[in-house]
Formats: sequence, C-alpha cells, structure tokens
Amino acid sequence: MPATQDRPHATQLPSWKKLSDQQKQLSSKHLRDLFAADPKRFEKFHLQFHDLLFDFSKNIVTEETLTTLFALAREAKDFKDYEVEEARDAMFSGEKINTTEDRAVLHIALRNLTDRPINVDGVNQTPEVHKVLKQMERWTEQIRSGEWKGYTGKTITDVVNIGIGGSDLGPVMVTEALKSYAKEGLRVHFVSNIDGTHLVEAVKHLNAETTVFIIASKTFTTQETITNAKSARTWFLSFAKDQSHVAKHFVALSTNTEEVTKFGIAEENMFGFWDWVGGRYSLWSAIGLSIAVYVGFDKFRELLQGAHDMDEHFRTTPLEKNLPAVLGLIGLWYNNFWDAQTVAILPYDQYLSRFAAYFQQGDMESNGKSVTKAGDKINDFSTGPIIWGEPGTNGQHAFYQLIHQGTKLIPADFIAPINSQNKDLGEDDHHTILLSNFFAQTEALMKGKTEEEARAELQKSGLSGEKLEKLLPHKVFAGNKPTNSILFQKLEPRTLGRLIALYEHKIFVQGAVWNINSFDQWGVELGKQLAKNILPELTSNGDISTHDSSTNGLINYFKAHYHR
Ligand code: F6P
Repeated sequence: MPATQDRPHATQLPSWKKLSDQQKQLSSKHLRDLFAADPKRFEKFHLQFHDLLFDFSKNIVTEETLTTLFALAREAKDFKDYEVEEARDAMFSGEKINTTEDRAVLHIALRNLTDRPINVDGVNQTPEVHKVLKQMERWTEQIRSGEWKGYTGKTITDVVNIGIGGSDLGPVMVTEALKSYAKEGLRVHFVSNIDGTHLVEAVKHLNAETTVFIIASKTFTTQETITNAKSARTWFLSFAKDQSHVAKHFVALSTNTEEVTKFGIAEENMFGFWDWVGGRYSLWSAIGLSIAVYVGFDKFRELLQGAHDMDEHFRTTPLEKNLPAVLGLIGLWYNNFWDAQTVAILPYDQYLSRFAAYFQQGDMESNGKSVTKAGDKINDFSTGPIIWGEPGTNGQHAFYQLIHQGTKLIPADFIAPINSQNKDLGEDDHHTILLSNFFAQTEALMKGKTEEEARAELQKSGLSGEKLEKLLPHKVFAGNKPTNSILFQKLEPRTLGRLIALYEHKIFVQGAVWNINSFDQWGVELGKQLAKNILPELTSNGDISTHDSSTNGLINYFKAHYHR
C-alpha cells in the first residue's frame, strides 16, 4: 500500500476537478437565468417515487453538473475499495463495511419483511429479525388490549422509554410524527438526559401501578440510560415495595443479555437485536417498541414497509433516477464545491417537528469524520455538514432572515404534505396558508428581489430621493439560494418510512464518495472517558489540580458552591 501522502484522495478524481471548474463557471450565473433559459427545468429536474415528489430544479446545477456528479459517484478504483453503487451492494449483501468495528451495516434487514435471506458470516439474519418482530407484536398487543396488567391488576396507561441518542431520537421523532394514529388513553414519555430533572418531571404525574418502563440501550452500559433506569426502578419500588413486581413494569431493548439480566430484567422481557444495527439506525429494530405500542403494530409494520420500499428503490435504481443518490450528490456539490457548511431541514408539517433533530444525529454522527476508511487524514475537502432546522412556518419568523439576506450559503430541504391529517377548527384553511408559505419561500430564495424591483416597489409606496436610496440596499434580496422541495401526499406511516430511509441512504451516498466510515462514532468517546475521571473528583475532599487551569478553576468553583 502506498504511503498516506501518496494515496489519491477524492479531490484527485477527474470528476472532482471537473466539478471544481464547473462551479467557477456557474458562480457567475443566477438561478433565475437557469430557469429563464429552460422552461422545462422542473420537468427535467424532479423525480417521483410512490407518493414522494422530489423537485431539485431550484439548485445551482445544470445537466452537465449532474452528469459529472454521477460520474464522481462511479469513480473510485484508485483510492478506495468501492464506488457508490458497489458500496451500496456491499451493505445490502451483509459485508462488514463498518471496518473499525468489524460489523455489517444492516438496518435494511430490519425492514426486509420478505423472506429474502440476508447473510452475515454465512448466517441468514432474516428469521431472527422476524422472530423479534413477532415478540414485539405480541407485547404491543398485550399492552394495548389491556391484557398486560400492572402489579395491582390495572391496565397500563403510560409507557416511559428510557434511552439516549439512537435509543431515543428515533422513537421520539416517529411517535411525534405518527401521533394522530395513537391509541386513546395510552401515553408515551421519553427520558434521555442524565439531568435528573428529565426523569423527575416525566414521572411526576404518573401512577406506578399503570406505568411500564422500556429501557432502551444497545450496549446496556450507557451511563445516562443505566442511571435513569436505576432511578426509575427506585421510584417504582417506592410504591410497589416488592422487587418481584419489577417484571411487570420493566422491559429491555438491547443486544447485551448479560447486563440486562444483571439489572434485574428477565430474559423473557428482553427484546434483542444485533451488533449490525447502528444506534442511529435502530428505530426499525426492537428500539422501535415504544413506537409500536403507541401506534399499534400494524402501523409500525407499515413504517418498516415504507423504508423497505425506499431500500429497494435505492438498491435497484440507476443513480440518475435514484432519489437518495440525487439528494446526496446535490448535497455534496454544495458541501465540497460551494463551501456550504450546513444544511437546513425544514418540514412544513408540525408532526415532523423532530425530523431535523433526528437527522442531526443521523448525519452528523455518521459523516462527522476526518479520516478516510484507510485512516488517512482528510485535509483537502470537507465531510459531513452541520444539520439543523425547525418546522415551517415557525422558522420563517426566527432564522430565515439569515438564509435570505445573510452572507452564508445555506442549502435547504423543504418538506411538506399535500394533505393535512386534520380538519380545521375554524373557517380558515390552515393547510393552504401553510403551503402558500412553503411555495413562496423556495421561490423567494431562488429568485430574490433585484435592485430595480426593490426600487419600483419603494417608489410605488410613495418613497423617493435620499430616503429611498438609503432604504434600497436593505430591501434587495440576492436570491440564488438553493433548495430541494419534497412533497408527499399525507404523513402516513409508510410515507414516513420512505422519507426516513431516503435521508439514511443520502448519508450513505455522501460517506461512500468521501470514503469515510459512516457507521462508527469514536468521536463521542473522549468526553465520556474524561467525565468518568472527573466524577469522583466532584465529591472528593479538597481542591483539584489535575487538569488545565480552566477545568480546575471551574471544578473547584462548582465544589465550593454545590449542595446535593
Ligand atoms: O452517543 C453515542 C452513542 O453510542 C450513539 O451512537 C447511540 O445511539 C447512543 O450512544 C446510545 O447508545 P446505547 O443504545 O448503547 O445506550
């Protein structure tokens, strides 16, 4: 193998160089001109998949750009094992593409409701997946039907999921998204933060007799989750008194049977999964139990089915017509050739209020890497973007100003349902008001407002002379801000499954071009290690002097003022 500095990187690929040149040419063009030059731009630059319509015409791209991006995805041989399509096939065939953990990456197997075998080390995983789904279905039905009783014989009314990161964010996002399907009288709550306040506030109004705790942790060693689980058990036993009642009120979702049983949860109350399920890709596994119990197993199955639809699309469709590939490559275009640092995800659907937060982990934990799979330092291109966003129209009244008139380029994904799930309470049609804003924003971002237009507007309002000239620069919108628009019919479970899988595979495509491992997360370890060292120092006698002066100063100030 050649030495690190001799190994070719993504930036040395022929298409990379071409894209750099194309960016220079395009930087003098405006999206308005691209639209004016081609009345068929929308027709050419949109894709449809079942009920999803993906319009990427409001991007600073030409057909040549897209062709070169697809070529980039297909170039690889010199510096990495796989180009994008090969990497995708390697994932689907159960190869251990998470090389630093020596694991397969098979969240796609969790939603493979067919009998198609998916092997890891020669063993078909599909039957085991289906077995756990059956177990989840049974438990879900027992809780929902009232057959599962608490320690005093009462029906369960409240389910508390205790988990963090991937063992929390997915269930939080999906239960919020699908809450219109929830069962009347059955509530779900989520406790993730080690801040004791989270648990205290969650259980404050709960009745131990009718509450079940789901302890969700792949490793079952995560400090936050285990601490919260132990405190929840103490709270529960303060009412139930008898340890034997724990069996009816605590279940575990984990890959670690030993730690689960050590905690005191019987194996029959454990829902297993496998090391090939990454935390941030785990809502499809037993980690989705809170979703299944909340919306019912049929709806959970529809969610899986939707993700499976997108998996099959991603697996079998040429890049040119492949939604995750196009979304990923356009994202990469701004990230690597336009120096965009972030991507805003802006759902115009209140039910998707946690969608951006979910993909903050999904994307940033996956592609926040600075070495290639071969371990070479990446110093000549940028990897994963910063993901953020809030639902529209709230965001419009908060941060859109900067997207419209700030100095940063912020590519944004606009996502909206064509139909609302709810009937309006008053006479106004809320949904058309919502969607008029959705369409207006991408149009405004694309077109902007020229100086002439702004001037004409000001004149029309009666302004002239010095006053007009003073105000004018503030009223100009540069426009040329790229957006994707994703429309879907209605936020049904199957649609949501498709949408989530679309973004998962988008992340995959980008990671494959950059040749990074999108499936490990070593970057979260250092802070955890240091916190372990600091914890005993916080309760020891005397001042601490083992750190830098800032950390020592802060710890000692805390110790001087802390009262438990
Ligand atoms: O933050 C790191 C991380 O490992 C995430 O990847 C994961 O989703 C989370 O912690 C929770 O881990 P576990 O499910 O093992 O408790």
